[in-house]
Amino acid sequence: MTNRKLIIGNWKMNPGTLEEAKKIVAKTKRVAAKLDHTDVVVCPPFVFLPQLAPRRSVKHFHVGAQSVYFEESGSYTGEVSVAMLRDVGTEYVIVGHSEERKRGDTDEIVAKKVKAVIDAGLTPIVCVGEISRDVEGASHYEVLKKQIQNSFAGVPKRAGRDIVLAYEPVWAIGAKESMVPSEIYEMSLFVKKVFSDAFGPETAVKVTILYGGAVNFRNAADIISIGKVDGLLVGRESLNTVGFVELLKAVDAVK
Ligand code: 13P
Repeated sequence: MTNRKLIIGNWKMNPGTLEEAKKIVAKTKRVAAKLDHTDVVVCPPFVFLPQLAPRRSVKHFHVGAQSVYFEESGSYTGEVSVAMLRDVGTEYVIVGHSEERKRGDTDEIVAKKVKAVIDAGLTPIVCVGEISRDVEGASHYEVLKKQIQNSFAGVPKRAGRDIVLAYEPVWAIGAKESMVPSEIYEMSLFVKKVFSDAFGPETAVKVTILYGGAVNFRNAADIISIGKVDGLLVGRESLNTVGFVELLKAVDAVK
């Protein structure tokens, strides 16, 4: 766990207009500049990226994409490449979100995307998480382990330290309550151990581990302090400017 925290807002397919998007960014930027130990990344839909990515660097504020395609260019209708994202000022890219995995992204595709993002010099935010918990057999540990191993297949060891790994249990996404912070701690240790086995312990201490799933301004500080994660991947609350500002301040205040 580093002392800096990383808060990522995944806007998904929201908001409906560029004007609304600009308002959310303006407010988020203002608060981000005043934070001491926290970096903020907002991930809007592709179409808003060129307008929202800062022209010159803004303190503690960055822009990310929610997805990418792994090929460089060519006949891939509807897709966007890493070079295009970089060209418009994107610094981070979410890869392997469960909502994309559900629409067909396999671990193999995720690994190709991770490699493409790293090769372009951008930072991948790689999402992993079990669909459900197996309270009796605990098979979700094995599911998660395989998912992590396969999502990084072929990714060079030296790239490991630049990866952001987001643990998002699918059952907690869009739910009312997040995972209990003490369980987040347990799972984040497990995720780190699997990552360490793949990339080596020196790289694993540098990797940024996030938690995602029903995070809001009320539970964010506990998730950081009890769950001992390096940051959060926030869905709904990142679009609610009042709540997101409170969340950022609460996280920044955690020692
Ligand atoms: P919610 O915070 O809305 O549960 O979404 C989590 C998520 O999917 C972030 O990527």
